[in-house]
Amino acid sequence: MSATQLDPAEAMTALRAKQQQVWSSGDYNRIAALTVPVNEAMVSAAAIVPGEEVLDVATGTGHAALAAARAGARVTGIDYVPALLDIARARAAAERLDVGFVEAPAEQLPFADGSFDVAVSAIGVMFAADHDRAASELVRVVRSGGRIVLASWTRPGFVGGILGIVGRHVSPPPGAQSPVRWGEEDVVAELLGDDAVDVHSSLHTVTQRFTSAEAFADLFLDYYGPTRAAASRLDDAGRAAMRADLVSHAEANARPGVEGLVTDWEFRIVSATRH
Ligand SMILES: C[S@@+](CC[C@H](N)C(=O)[O-])C[C@H]1O[C@@H](n2cnc3c(N)ncnc32)[C@H](O)[C@@H]1O
Repeated sequence: MSATQLDPAEAMTALRAKQQQVWSSGDYNRIAALTVPVNEAMVSAAAIVPGEEVLDVATGTGHAALAAARAGARVTGIDYVPALLDIARARAAAERLDVGFVEAPAEQLPFADGSFDVAVSAIGVMFAADHDRAASELVRVVRSGGRIVLASWTRPGFVGGILGIVGRHVSPPPGAQSPVRWGEEDVVAELLGDDAVDVHSSLHTVTQRFTSAEAFADLFLDYYGPTRAAASRLDDAGRAAMRADLVSHAEANARPGVEGLVTDWEFRIVSATRH
């Protein structure tokens, strides 16, 4: 049966499986260290206190889960890539932190309604295949009065630019929604729906340093799921053209007058309270 013959739910499951492959390829752990400050800022915005039950959705290698556990929370992290969860478990063990890591899709969280005081997701849920379902799952598993705090790359920011380049070289799969929608407060408010109140947000940047624009492009082509997956669908000329665009993008956003490549990547933290 072709993708066009699938009903909407089946098509979304097929898209999720495709995207799961993308995040499973390319050793995302090589890129993950870049996002530690994003997670620290988000966990700080969540104002977690000891003893709270916290869920980190799309935890990857566990940055936010570990930060919340260091703050004394009882933490669960979920992701759909087992290899990333294995790294998260090893990191928790190395720090003697008791964090539960569970393989699960963001669109179908294996938890009862109202199980958590806080749900967070750092540049994670924005990559879910089904934005509406992932958002309603976040709201469902948080108790009344609990918090939902999300960090997302913005469309005009540096990573929004990378994803824009990917989309110009390789058409997105049918039904795919743009992840950077989650970088806009009103879109997140709409996705979370009426059961999320007091939605507010703040813009932040994280500074990234590379030896050169070329080194940045090669790192992302080799290890960042979305760029790596796109490059694998191109021939040599197409791949070279995409690399050239990544290099130009980095150069256009480089801080002037410094050695190497220094770039500031914009992200938005949106916070909401569960009604
Ligand atoms: C950019 S990484 C961020 C990981 C981590 N939160 C961090 O800040 O390093 C995106 C993560 O989202 C996960 N992910 C994307 N869609 C998902 C889904 N539908 N269900 C579960 N995990 C998902 C990927 O496996 C990946 O670990």
